[in-house]
This record gives sequence, structure tokens and C-alpha cells, in this order.
Amino acid sequence: PERVFSGVQPTGNLHLGNYLGAIRKFVTLQQSHDCLFCVVDMHAITVWQDPARLRAQTLEIAAAYLAAGIDPEKSIIFNQSHVSAHAELAWIFNCVARMGWLNRMTQFKDKAGKDKERASAGLFVYPNLMSADILAYKATHVPVGDDQKQHLELARDTAAKFNNDFGCPDFFPLPEPLIKGAGARVMSLKDGTAKMSKSDPADNSRINMTDDADMIARKIKKAKTDPEPLPGDVEGLTGRPEADNLVGIYAALAGVEKEHVIADFGGQGFGVFKPALADLAVEKLSPITARMREIQGDEAHLEKVLKDGAGRADAIAAPIMREVKEIVGFLV
Ligand code: TYM
Repeated sequence: PERVFSGVQPTGNLHLGNYLGAIRKFVTLQQSHDCLFCVVDMHAITVWQDPARLRAQTLEIAAAYLAAGIDPEKSIIFNQSHVSAHAELAWIFNCVARMGWLNRMTQFKDKAGKDKERASAGLFVYPNLMSADILAYKATHVPVGDDQKQHLELARDTAAKFNNDFGCPDFFPLPEPLIKGAGARVMSLKDGTAKMSKSDPADNSRINMTDDADMIARKIKKAKTDPEPLPGDVEGLTGRPEADNLVGIYAALAGVEKEHVIADFGGQGFGVFKPALADLAVEKLSPITARMREIQGDEAHLEKVLKDGAGRADAIAAPIMREVKEIVGFLV
């Protein structure tokens, strides 16, 4: 049977890229699949997190899931550290995945920066925890943004190596990434060649899920562009990363192809296109932001949703972990 798993780190500044690349797709997938959506707090601490902020941000992601339209009756919403299978299976995968595989991960290189000696050991083995997140539930499909593609390939390699090493050919499924479509790679508003990111120090580079209507409009107005009007066809966006990004954002928000946006706005200048984009962004995001604030006001409810989800997640993972331990040769 098909099962969907995905996660978002509670590291602050949840943004439009997280929404269009991931969370929005979760809402659609829950109609057709059994889904688990996780707040991955154990991933977050691979770089320093202030404990009080980590707590608040964990609740914020849970609120964003609910506000975006994930139904906690249908889907399982939970917190990674509440289910022990993640840490247990991650350790086993630390012993399956190879140093050489991890050495090739570009996200580690980006996040560790120049001084790799000072990066946490957790940041290096981060992808193994991610494989464990998915495979502890034998999830088959993983909706993510384009930046997670390499990690998903490693998860597939790890699943295949486990199955092969222990002679259990079909034990773990090879999880498939669901990446396609506009919104899979939302770029910075300040630089069309860098992805929109939670950790960019320039707040103007991203639209946060907590930004109000004025702020959204202001950021789009200030977004970097080139001086040319929008081209008459999509090919004309080649070599114009900022224009391409804004058209892509419009398409993703409107739920149409870029061709459609160009058919409407081709030949127009940014003086026309930017206000239209701002209006659309506000129309789509404001209701979610408002619901998020409302939901965040009721921490007791959020904690209850997460606890309930953890119980349901554990009920799926526990028997799988028991089998994993048997396969590995641990006494069970
Ligand atoms: P995280 O918390 O950085 O981002 C959450 C989701 O948002 C997507 N995303 C983007 N999509 C489009 N454009 C962008 N600019 C953009 N920035 C982020 C990410 O691809 C992601 O889908 N390692 C993961 C979290 C994770 C996970 C997992 C995901 C942990 N375990 C298991 C899937 C399955 C991460 O850091 O996402």
C-alpha cells in the first residue's frame, strides 16, 4: 500500500518555498493517501537551537500544518522526538550508509560552511535520520522541494543496501520523491539563483508565512528584477532568473502552468505584474496566516494533536522496528 511521509524543520521563518514546495502538496495528498506529517525537531538541533524557541517553533509548524488544511483526523501530525523509532532506526542506518555517500551531500557542505571541523556530527549524519523518518513507516512517497532530492536518493540507496546486506529483498520499499510542478524550487526575492531559505539573514529575500498583507506587498514590490517587460513565451524566461522566479511563484499560487501566466502577462512590465502577484499572494496566504495565529493561541489543543499523532505514528512504526531488530540480529 502507498504511504506518504514528509517533514518540516522547526527552525523558524517558515516561508513561501516551504508552503509551495511541500505543505501545500501535503494537503492534496491526504485525499488519496495515508499520510504522516512530522515536525522534525531532532533534525533541527543539528545546528544550535535555543530550547525555548525550539518549543515555540515546533508548535508553529504544527499550527501551519493545520492552518494549511491538513486534517488531523485523516492524516497523522506528530513530533519526531515523540516516537523512538526515528532515533533507533537512524542508528542502524548510520551503520548501513557509507561515509562516501554522506561526503557527497551538498546540503552538508552548504550548512557546515568553511569550517567543517566545527559542524556537529549530527549535521553530517542528518540524511540517515531522514531515511529513518521515512522508512520507519515503510513510506513509499515523499513530497518535498527540489533541495531534498539528493537526500531522497540516499534514502533509496540505504533501503536497497539494507535489503541486500540482510538478504530481505523487499523489506524496505524504495521511497519515491514527489517533487514535480511549479513551486518545487522557489528562489530568493533578492537573487534568482539562490533558493528562498529560512536561514537567509535578509528577511526581504523571502515571504514568511507570518508576514501580513502589507509586508507581502512591500517585499514583492522590492523584489529584484531586470528592466525588460515579461517575455511573450516561456522560453523567453531563460537567462532571467528573477523574472522566471516571480512567474513561477504566480503560477504555483494560482495553480496554473507558467505558460498560462505568460499568456496573461507577456509584454507587460513589472509595474503591472508585481501588484498582480502581490494581490494573488495576499489572497492565498492571508487566510492561512490568520488561521495559524488563531490555532497558535490554543497551545493545549496543538499539544493534544501532536500527542495523539505520536501515538498513531508509534503504532505503525513499533512493529516495523521489531522486525528490523530481528533482521539485524538484536535479541527481541
Ligand atoms: P526544510 O524544513 O528545510 O523544508 C521543508 C520543506 O520545504 C521545502 N523547501 C522548498 N521548496 C521549494 N522552494 C524552496 N525554496 C524551499 N525551501 C524548502 C523542502 O524541500 C522541504 O520539503 N530535511 C528536510 C526535512 C525532513 C524530511 C524528512 C522531509 C526531515 N525528514 C523526511 C521529507 C522526509 C528539511 O530540512 O526540510
